Amino acid sequence: MSRIICFILVLSAILSVQAKFPDDPKPCKHGDSACIVKITNYFIREKATQGDRDINLVKLDPLPVTKMNLKQGADSPVNIDLTFKDNNIYGISTIRFNKVKGFGKDLAQKHELQLNAGKLSLVGPYSIKGKVLILPISGSGKSNMTLVNCDVIVQFTGMPFEKDGETYMKATKLKILAKPERLYYHFSNLFNGDKALGDNMNTFLNDNWEAIFKEVQNSIQGAFSEIFSAIISNVFSKYPYDKFFEA
Ligand SMILES: *[C@@H]1O[C@H](CO)[C@@H](O)[C@H](O)[C@H]1NC(C)=O
Repeated sequence: MSRIICFILVLSAILSVQAKFPDDPKPCKHGDSACIVKITNYFIREKATQGDRDINLVKLDPLPVTKMNLKQGADSPVNIDLTFKDNNIYGISTIRFNKVKGFGKDLAQKHELQLNAGKLSLVGPYSIKGKVLILPISGSGKSNMTLVNCDVIVQFTGMPFEKDGETYMKATKLKILAKPERLYYHFSNLFNGDKALGDNMNTFLNDNWEAIFKEVQNSIQGAFSEIFSAIISNVFSKYPYDKFFEA
């Protein structure tokens, strides 16, 4: 979690130095979807991959994820305990916002972000144990889970809170819905490094990617909801809500 918080602080830093870039887009009016989409895509495109030493900005792509756990109960055909430790998410720079809803004058309402991620990969050490569609699976090593052309909807409810006489926004009840066109799995060193068994399992996972995704979708979306919730709340904890918009 500590690395996620690092990322959040960095995002806030971007917003705070915005005024120093003469070419940067001007702030948007409340609820101006097209403008908010444009400004957000600008920051992702210009700042995600390279960072900027002068403004003490580190890279957002890759994005470190210290720990993520997916656990599916015995009642699911995909009954696994899967842990990722010290992974990176690659591909934040391929995210494009298409539409936002909300962000009006009244922050205590539903807000929605609609975006597409061209290619997002979660890469790093894993350990897994359990059963996938009746086949036992176990192992630990390095994995790569890649979502291709993924449509994402993020919904949350704004909750106001007061600090030093000003009103800030916190994101609550955050929900994510992800619809990938394709999902690729690769787990190295399955079954204690038994290559034949491991190759078979990887082929099996990719052949059945959609059925497996349907089973683990809620767990994955839940894990990412926590990350997004923290990011959004922390970005908006940097300044009073109204300061993000043109007066
Ligand atoms: C992860 O897998 C995807 C799809 O197979 C591939 O394009 C990407 O380069 C891989 N990423 C890493 C860091 O190995």
